[in-house]
Amino acid sequence: MRIGIDKMAFATTNNYLDLVELAESRNVDPNKFTIGIGQDQQAVVPPTQDIVTLGAAAAKKLLTPSLIKNISTLIVATESGIDNSKASAIYIKHLLGLNDFTRTIELKEACYSATAGIQFAKGLVAINPQETVLVIATDIARYGLNTPGEVTQGAGAVAMLISANPHILTLEDTTVAYSKDIMDFWRPLYATEALVDGKYSTNVYIDFFKQTFTRYQQLTGHSLADFAALTFHLPFTKMGKKGLESILGDRKDRVARRLRQQLTASQVYSRRVGNLYTGSLYLSLMSLLQNGSLAAGDRIGLFSYGSGAEGEFYTGILEEGYQKYLNDIETDLAQRQKVSVTEYERLFSSQLGMNSEDIEFDDTDDLSPFILKGQKKHQRI
Ligand code: HMG
Repeated sequence: MRIGIDKMAFATTNNYLDLVELAESRNVDPNKFTIGIGQDQQAVVPPTQDIVTLGAAAAKKLLTPSLIKNISTLIVATESGIDNSKASAIYIKHLLGLNDFTRTIELKEACYSATAGIQFAKGLVAINPQETVLVIATDIARYGLNTPGEVTQGAGAVAMLISANPHILTLEDTTVAYSKDIMDFWRPLYATEALVDGKYSTNVYIDFFKQTFTRYQQLTGHSLADFAALTFHLPFTKMGKKGLESILGDRKDRVARRLRQQLTASQVYSRRVGNLYTGSLYLSLMSLLQNGSLAAGDRIGLFSYGSGAEGEFYTGILEEGYQKYLNDIETDLAQRQKVSVTEYERLFSSQLGMNSEDIEFDDTDDLSPFILKGQKKHQRI
């Protein structure tokens, strides 16, 4: 039985920051951000948006009335949890109007957990081919004003349907997961921003990519020539380049040229949105599917990485007509409003965060389908 990704949709906030303007205000050469890090713009999050509103907005783009009735399981992957106990998936299920006989759960392991969600969903469908599982990766990447990580912030959600006879990507059986207790990036319970050992984290990422990819090659006998493209978790687009170059070395042949071109195609949207944490790999897959040179039957490799740390390398085979099962990201991004650095700093400091007071947000400027109105008696509205 073929099982895989049937439909995908992406949603982000309506505001963005120009990173050349951020560089100027931080007294940094703009080339460091646009070339050294590989980011041009970043999603800015108003207080009226959170992982629930973003996740629901992404899923709304791919649901039809019959799917709303038939989703059997909702898995929400996030590391920007809004509650230590209640799953964000329950709120999202309610906003989407999914039926009450839906299994609903939140998963966590930094940026990696959406990949675990997809593998678990594949298992559910393998046991019962009638299942349609909705996996939503939703996050807000926050590092703090004036920190080295600031330029790698971002926000957004990717929603994916996992089913039998998928229209986008059939997942292949061989997959290699790898985990180790490592302190490269973490967020203690009392913190609204991540703590990170930045340079170390980039080295661990590359190590985990090499570990998983080498083992995958040993298990399958596949070489780089067997891939139309490799996609990466993109905390910033330069990281994908570092990953790919770590296995290409100084190769300049046809295969290496193809993989480099496809990597560029996979980086288009991340350059303009920033890190999505759990959703980043899947936004780079969508970017590849909409901007790369691909044909049905192509094999695509996916490297998922989450700090802490866990990685997984797995593959899928592209289906005929996949283009029709993705939302139009270019149009959505073109409609966003640019905000100044001052406005971004104001919005950054207006998040609900650790605030326990009752609060009501002014949502007049937010045209998103779902809005966080505020908080009353410790309950988000
Ligand atoms: P930094 O201190 O800005 O680094 O931190 P840098 O000074 O080394 O500069 C970065 C690059 O810009 C370098 O290139 C410089 O040469 C270049 P590289 O050597 O890396 O190829 N550069 C310039 N290029 C052109 N013109 C110039 C110029 N100046 C310098 N004028 C760092 C960078 C990424 C460490 C920081 O932003 C950070 O800590 N980010 C957050 C952590 C992160 O994203 N880590 C990635 C791996 S871990 C991961 O992916 C998991 C994660 O998503 C979380 C999760 O799993 O939940 C983060």
